[in-house]
Amino acid sequence: MKTKAAVLGGLGDDWEIAELDLDPPKDGEVLVRWVAAGLCHSDEHLRTGDIPVRYPIVGGHEGAGVIEEVGPGVTRLAPGDHVVCSFLPACGHCRFCARGMTNLCDLGALLVDNCLPDGTFRFHAEGRDFGQMCLLGTFSQWGTVSEHSCIKVDRDLPLETVVLVGCGVPTGWGTAVNVGGVRPGDTVVVYGIGGVGINAVQGASFAGARHVVAVDPLPNKREAAQQFGATHTAADAAAAQQLVTELTLGVGADQALITAGVVTEEVIGAAFAAVRKGGTVIVTGLAGPGVKNIQIPSFELTLFQKRIVGALFGGGNPFEEIPRMIDMYRAGMLKLDELVTSQYRLGDVRQGYQDLVDGKNIRGVIVHEH
Ligand SMILES: NC(=O)c1ccc[n+]([C@@H]2O[C@H](COP(=O)([O-])OP(=O)(O)OC[C@H]3O[C@@H](n4cnc5c(N)ncnc54)[C@H](O)[C@@H]3O)[C@@H](O)[C@H]2O)c1
Ligand SMILES: [Zn+2]
Ligand SMILES: [Zn+2]
Repeated sequence: MKTKAAVLGGLGDDWEIAELDLDPPKDGEVLVRWVAAGLCHSDEHLRTGDIPVRYPIVGGHEGAGVIEEVGPGVTRLAPGDHVVCSFLPACGHCRFCARGMTNLCDLGALLVDNCLPDGTFRFHAEGRDFGQMCLLGTFSQWGTVSEHSCIKVDRDLPLETVVLVGCGVPTGWGTAVNVGGVRPGDTVVVYGIGGVGINAVQGASFAGARHVVAVDPLPNKREAAQQFGATHTAADAAAAQQLVTELTLGVGADQALITAGVVTEEVIGAAFAAVRKGGTVIVTGLAGPGVKNIQIPSFELTLFQKRIVGALFGGGNPFEEIPRMIDMYRAGMLKLDELVTSQYRLGDVRQGYQDLVDGKNIRGVIVHEH
């Protein structure tokens, strides 16, 4: 079948809308009619090279849609099912899945070539194979994906909203709650208030943090953070440090969460300085693979027993976290509707990313037309 998709032809290229040929599902795969796709900063990293991938590639790794066809061997999903996709596939059987760390599933190795698990591609045009970001490629009207990426959800949920639990929401929430282990009374600093950071604020607040300091140079982001539970805001790291020092009487923050769009040496240094003895810095935002941006004195690391840790998918298991986030949304415990600040058509994807770079959105969402 044919599908319209937003693709990157090569490093530094801008998004182009192309008509592609899409193969039907093979073993263990499903055909999805994408209803909505979130605009996460990670797709912008594909354009700039901060996430190195094989090109050409169909963008988009936050996606929600309806199953139209299932391939041989698929028993867990059926046509008509509504799904939210995880940006990380989970096979369930590799060593990491078996340990309950499905965010580290060995299928993650495919995220460089972005082919499907059997090593082949489903999108083609003019004799070329197109990869699919995170094995998804949700900036397409239709897509063929692995069942290992699909979490079935109730049919009455608004897919234009719950699409965000495929990446931004559990990533930010889990940065605070799972990896940060925020406890009642903690003081937490969050650097960078995008679709990820706002959910770190939301998670820290929900976990009972006494102080949540949201740091972002943009006034609209600081304003939004307050709606999601930030008790204080700062325009830069120096102002945040001053606040943390005052609020904790010089002790320091329990956790510093880095959710900035591009992670720099400066922000890591600031976060490391902001945490107390035994405190934790969690790095969720990305920078290019060659960038050595952690420059901290080991003296302080050791003697103050501080920790710096990474977090992928907020350290959670997608097949557990996604339904849990949706249950919390239904129960009124998790804000999702308020996260979507603009909706776009597929053809406006460049505008969507310009708005992300300009900091206009908390999260932009493409709503597909068929
Ligand atoms: N580890 C994971 O599992 C995972 C998952 C999804 C996204 N990410 C990454 O998380 C990052 C955030 O993604 P997003 O979609 O929320 O991005 P975004 O562009 O929507 O938001 C980033 C925000 O950071 C702010 N910012 C930039 N530099 C800053 C600094 N030094 N101090 C404070 N604020 C700063 C920007 O003003 C912006 O508001 C990206 O690098 C993305 O690739 C990681
Ligand atoms: Zn993402
Ligand atoms: Zn696995």
